[in-house]
This record gives sequence, structure tokens and C-alpha cells, in this order.
Amino acid sequence: MIVREEIERLKKEKDAVILAHYYVRPEVQELADYIGDSFYLSRMAAGLKERTIVFCGVSFMGESAKALSPDKTVLMPDAHSDCAMAHMADTEKIRRVREAYEDVAVVCYINSTAELKRCSDVCVTSANAVQIVRSLPNKNIFFIPDRNLAHFVAEQIPEKHFIFNDGYCPVHQQMKTEEIRQAKALHPRAEVLAHPECTKDVLEMSDYVGSTSGIIRYAGQSSAREFIICTENGVLAELQKRYPGKEFYFTGTEPVCEDMKLITPEKILHVLKTGENEVVMDGKICEESRKPLEEMLRLAAQSLI
Ligand code: 13P
Ligand code: SF4
Repeated sequence: MIVREEIERLKKEKDAVILAHYYVRPEVQELADYIGDSFYLSRMAAGLKERTIVFCGVSFMGESAKALSPDKTVLMPDAHSDCAMAHMADTEKIRRVREAYEDVAVVCYINSTAELKRCSDVCVTSANAVQIVRSLPNKNIFFIPDRNLAHFVAEQIPEKHFIFNDGYCPVHQQMKTEEIRQAKALHPRAEVLAHPECTKDVLEMSDYVGSTSGIIRYAGQSSAREFIICTENGVLAELQKRYPGKEFYFTGTEPVCEDMKLITPEKILHVLKTGENEVVMDGKICEESRKPLEEMLRLAAQSLI
């Protein structure tokens, strides 16, 4: 309780706001002013009035917030909280693909470093990837870094030609059909809801595929009362809060993003007190990585996502 009160006091003193992704610990989500998926948080980060943003998420999220709001101070509660997939593409391959395909659009999943973003034409998140890629005039799409999301998008837009990259999220990649079958055997009436970072075989046995927010929305709209959730376990807090009458299960190997779990209330308090772990970006990288992010926000607003 003392930590919470101290955080509230410092937030006022420093004109700070706390953003949190659904994958962080429940006790961190409870402290947040805004909780959401990557798309919601990037939209929020672009329009906040407070001078300081404490970003409870991994480093690409802090970088994106800084790129979209370069005049603000962005603080990361844990300096080592990173996303493995964000590094799974390389700028040399982007250069080669651009040479090989004249009209190519480089589409960059927001789970990527600023260095990758600045070499890309537009960012997407799992909540808007299909709509944004569909709206592009380009026939050729080089989708980085996530191969699973890329294949999910490509299947829905057969008229475009996709060049794939080999990145993946280690947390979603490890979800196995066998474990989902076991969960179904235990809970035969449960619907399977999966994030598109999961592999194709998992998506094929799912009743719904969508972003973290999409999964939360779907669980509310569905008439089912039980669900097997194929995404990171932090989402459970929001599902239980919104739908207390429904039951949610995970697979035997529960999907946990250790980097998201590095963030604790004590670390939030520490950075608010000290100003440590500020996101500092090279001016040029900041400016150039902002462009594909702003393009995402512009196209998303146009297609009313
Ligand atoms: P969304 O927030 O777009 O659902 O993405 C999930 C994720 O892995 C974030 O790191
Ligand atoms: Fe990255 Fe996967 Fe963790 Fe999301 S869940 S931050 S994609 S490693």
C-alpha cells in the first residue's frame, strides 16, 4: 500500500502517467492509468498531456512511445525488459529485398527495434495488420520480423505477394497443438482463442484468432462460458475483471513472457523517484522510426480500426 501511495504522490509531482501492456504482472496492471495491447498503447503514447510516461512493457514499446512523443520523458521500470522477436530481422536483408522488388512495401510489426522501423514503410500491430496491409497499393509485401503473423495476414490477402522473414515470438511459438488438445479434453465446452503470433497449426484449431484486445473482446461477445487462452498469461487479470462469470484456462505449459514479468511496483517507484532508465534515442533514429509509426496511425484512422 505504501508503494502505491508513494507512486501516486510522485506521479502528481512529476506530472507522470503509467502505461501498461496486458502481459505485465496483475499488480503492475493495477497501478496503470492505461492498460492495453500494443496498438492501443502506441495510440495513447502519441496523445498524452503528461510530461513523463512510465512504460510498463518491453523496450520496443518505450522506444515507440519516445519516437511518437519525442518531447516527453519516457521511463522504463526495468532497463533489461526486451522482446526477443524485436531483433529477429536485419537491415541488410531489407536492403536486398528493396533491390529485388521495385514496388515492395516493408511492413514492420511494431515488435521491432527502432533501427528496423526506420528502414520500413509502415508499422502494424496484431490488431491492425490485416486492414493496413490490405489498404497498401503495393503488390509485394516484405513483412518483418514475425513469420507467424506474416503468414496469418498473407492467408487473408491472397492477392498480394509476401516475402517472409524468419522471426518469431518464443512465448507464442512454444504453444503446442498437443497441449491444446489436452486442455480441450479437460474442458470440452471451451472455445480456443489464439494470438496470431502462434504457429499455423495452433491457429487452425482455434475458434478465434486476434490481438490481445481482440481476444478480450471476443471472450465477452461469445456465448461460450469457458475459454482456452493461447496467449501470454498476463491477459487473465483483465479477462477475470471483465467477465467474472466465465472461466479461462491455459495450456499445461503456461505461456509467460519473462521480460514483461520483470516489471514490478517497486521498480516503477524507483524510476519515478530517480528518473533512471530514461529512453534516450539518437535524434535521427527517433525521427526516422517515427514515420512508419505515424503512417500506421494515419492508415488505421482511415480504415476506422
Ligand atoms: P499485441 O499487444 O498486439 O496483442 O501483441 C502481443 C505482444 O506480443 C506484445 O508484445
Ligand atoms: Fe516479445 Fe513475445 Fe514477449 Fe511479446 S510476448 S514481448 S512478442 S517475447
